[in-house]
Amino acid sequence: MTTKKGILKLPALHQGQYEAFNHPARYKILVCGRRWGKSLLAAVALIECAVGGGIGWWVYPSFPMAMVGWRRLLKLLSVGIANGIIKIDRQERIITFPGGGHIQMKSAERANSLRGEGLDLVVIDEWAFVRYGKRVWESDLSPALAEKHGKAYLITTPNGMDHVYEYYHRAEHDDQYKAWKFPTENNPFIPKKSIEDARKSLPPDVFSQEYMANFLEDAAAFFYNLKNIMKAKIQHEAQPGHDYRAGLDIARWNDESVLAIEDYSIEPHEICWVEVMTIMSFRMQRKKVLNLADRYDIDSMSIDITGSGYGLGEQIEDDANFTCDQVHYTNKIKIDMFTSLQAQYEMEKLYIPDLEWLKVQHEMMIPQVSPGSLVVTLNARGGFRDDGPNAIALANRASQGMRITLAMSGEDEDEQNGN
Ligand SMILES: Nc1ncnc2c1ncn2[C@@H]1O[C@H](COP(=O)(O)OP(=O)(O)OP(=O)(O)O)[C@@H](O)[C@H]1O
Ligand SMILES: [Mg+2]
Repeated sequence: MTTKKGILKLPALHQGQYEAFNHPARYKILVCGRRWGKSLLAAVALIECAVGGGIGWWVYPSFPMAMVGWRRLLKLLSVGIANGIIKIDRQERIITFPGGGHIQMKSAERANSLRGEGLDLVVIDEWAFVRYGKRVWESDLSPALAEKHGKAYLITTPNGMDHVYEYYHRAEHDDQYKAWKFPTENNPFIPKKSIEDARKSLPPDVFSQEYMANFLEDAAAFFYNLKNIMKAKIQHEAQPGHDYRAGLDIARWNDESVLAIEDYSIEPHEICWVEVMTIMSFRMQRKKVLNLADRYDIDSMSIDITGSGYGLGEQIEDDANFTCDQVHYTNKIKIDMFTSLQAQYEMEKLYIPDLEWLKVQHEMMIPQVSPGSLVVTLNARGGFRDDGPNAIALANRASQGMRITLAMSGEDEDEQNGN
């Protein structure tokens, strides 16, 4: 590929990538295992389009995920950017090439920002994880391609029988679409050993979905049975005679802190309040947390202090009139905590509120094996946060208060009856 002053060197595509890249179909659906090389193919396709003067969007399910794609483009284009041939707008995350062609990163979280026109190429990355992914494609993005008869790559790891599954089969009879399904092992740049390690240590359905790219009846997420437990009622204040405990996930740097309050005096227990604190100073967070602790008169709070520094956990403990348990996560503690939460959900012993973002964060948690090691970790898929499930798992492990019921005299019973 040549630019005005030089050659743009891009990695050579591997066989599967090459096949999809060269195929004439207008809309290409790629359902592939993790690390197959989906995003690299997307980056190359977008660059080719923009070098030729075209306009392309790279759409991800969330902003942090879009930043992964953005950094990748900056790396691939670093030479052209350094010598000023390629311009970047960090604010809008647009990369402009000498002929005026450009690539813009987009997050599907902000639905209004996806209305566009005159696009030559759209990539939807991790399409299975785009909220309202079908509608985003049908109502927002494909119309934006109409004017120039633009093209699209719809790429993803599968996530159950969803819109991707529907379109994967639609490609069998709709000539505009062509669909492929490739397992991770097709990527010659991923060591075979790490795939074998994953096969041995992951639950079979997780391996089948994540590495073999199979559509499963039930997506192989760590948490399931969600629809039966998202029934908790929000309590705006403490109910007389109820007992509460809390879990606090403190933001590392830039993300959010989440406080979950659990009413553990009813069966099933219910997460009755979730407070999300976005970009708030630690002083403000401390105040907010203590106020809420007061409002529910909580008995105890578990606080994840891993990597948060700043001593927020200790500051809360100093002023607390409840039991504080500061948890420093290790992989084992995390797996134990989440396994216990998984069991609570399975037995329907804990209800959580029906909030879309909370559902998505739960669905994103999958067991993984890090390449080259046999250690199973539990993480949110690239770029997604897990602060909601984390706060809930913490609340659920906080200790129960000791409620001592004193034997009442007859008079007291009358009093209780309001006489
Ligand atoms: N053609 C290629 N040449 C060299 N390396 C490649 C090529 N394709 C993919 N890779 C490497 O393989 C790894 C996975 O690629 P990439 O991130 O594009 O895959 P992905 O399918 O998008 O993964 P994920 O499931 O994590 O989103 C990266 O390290 C990437 O650099
Ligand atoms: Mg990717």
